[in-house]
Amino acid sequence: MGAGLVGTYVGGRLAAAGVPVTFIGRANLGSAWAAHGLTLSDLDGGRWALPSLNWHTQVPREEAPPALVLLCVKSAATAEAAAQLGQCLPPGTCVVSLQNGVDNASIAQQHAPQLLVLPGMVPFNVARAEPSRLHQGTSGQLMAADQPALRAWLPVFAQAGLPLALRADMPAVQWAKLLLNLNNPVNALSGLPLRAQLLDRDWRRCTAALMAEALQVLARAHQPLARLTPLPPRWLPALLRAPTPVFRLLAARMLRIDDEARSSMADDLRLGRPPEIDALCGAVVRLGQRLGVPTPRNQAMLDALSGPGPLQASTGAAWRHRLI
Ligand SMILES: NC(=O)c1ccc[n+]([C@@H]2O[C@H](COP(=O)([O-])OP(=O)(O)OC[C@H]3O[C@@H](n4cnc5c(N)ncnc54)[C@H](OP(=O)(O)O)[C@@H]3O)[C@@H](O)[C@H]2O)c1
Repeated sequence: MGAGLVGTYVGGRLAAAGVPVTFIGRANLGSAWAAHGLTLSDLDGGRWALPSLNWHTQVPREEAPPALVLLCVKSAATAEAAAQLGQCLPPGTCVVSLQNGVDNASIAQQHAPQLLVLPGMVPFNVARAEPSRLHQGTSGQLMAADQPALRAWLPVFAQAGLPLALRADMPAVQWAKLLLNLNNPVNALSGLPLRAQLLDRDWRRCTAALMAEALQVLARAHQPLARLTPLPPRWLPALLRAPTPVFRLLAARMLRIDDEARSSMADDLRLGRPPEIDALCGAVVRLGQRLGVPTPRNQAMLDALSGPGPLQASTGAAWRHRLI
């Protein structure tokens, strides 16, 4: 549900492994991929060709109900997409939110109370490398809440080459992912590919500043953080602020990124689409407000990216000095 970059990539990898997948997404994407087929690729050189996709623009009532739904819309579309699922699917249908942010599964659950909505997490980056090719540009393991409804799916995801880890600590996983996602708006403002931006110390300092604020809020909230990177989350700001040669050495795995990978928020800004900033910096600001911890840099980023119209690269450079 919401077959864009993540939904079509994860759904496509399952389809390539023989799982019958129904893609629900926009007509423009569906018709392009229906006409030319779709190729999926990853940073290890993997390639999967899908000659056709079972594409719909709405939840098809004529098909048998799905055994599992992957909810993959951007955060602003969660309520509407969940309500559509709720109107069409049998009670108890399992829906996994593969979205960033920490609130999407509960928002979806509120709008589809009779479904079983579980939080999930996609650690890697997916970009549209060519009109008919989606590319996974970084690595990492899919995660979701450890619920009996998902256990039968473990061999299916493993067979598709996207092993799924079931976790009892999803809030810790989601907040740790959100912390890493605080680089998304910085990457978008930089106008640079992800790798080039991470190799620029001043841009890294911006991300470090946003993360340091978020870590203060999370410490006040006594929110545990899962370890998604070789270094513990609390060390990330210091790692990012390190001189670039030191960063290169210590962050070798973080830098295992294709040269062209960039945050999809960069595309959102370039195309004048609303970026998913409220689910990231907005979540930090809201938690900070609740706990009385100031978050001026996350607020500034939220304000900068919530405004109307596409931002220019020069605007990004100006913002860099306000964030460091
Ligand atoms: N891209 C990544 O590398 C990545 C990695 C990890 C996690 N994530 C997270 O995954 C989620 C999805 O990101 P994405 O990059 O895949 O976004 P995306 O490419 O924008 O995909 C979402 C798609 O769903 C469509 N959509 C929205 N509402 C719909 C509805 N009711 N019915 C059918 N289609 C609908 C959107 O169309 P419109 O644009 O027309 O609304 C869009 O084509 C986000 O929470 C993101 O943070 C992304």
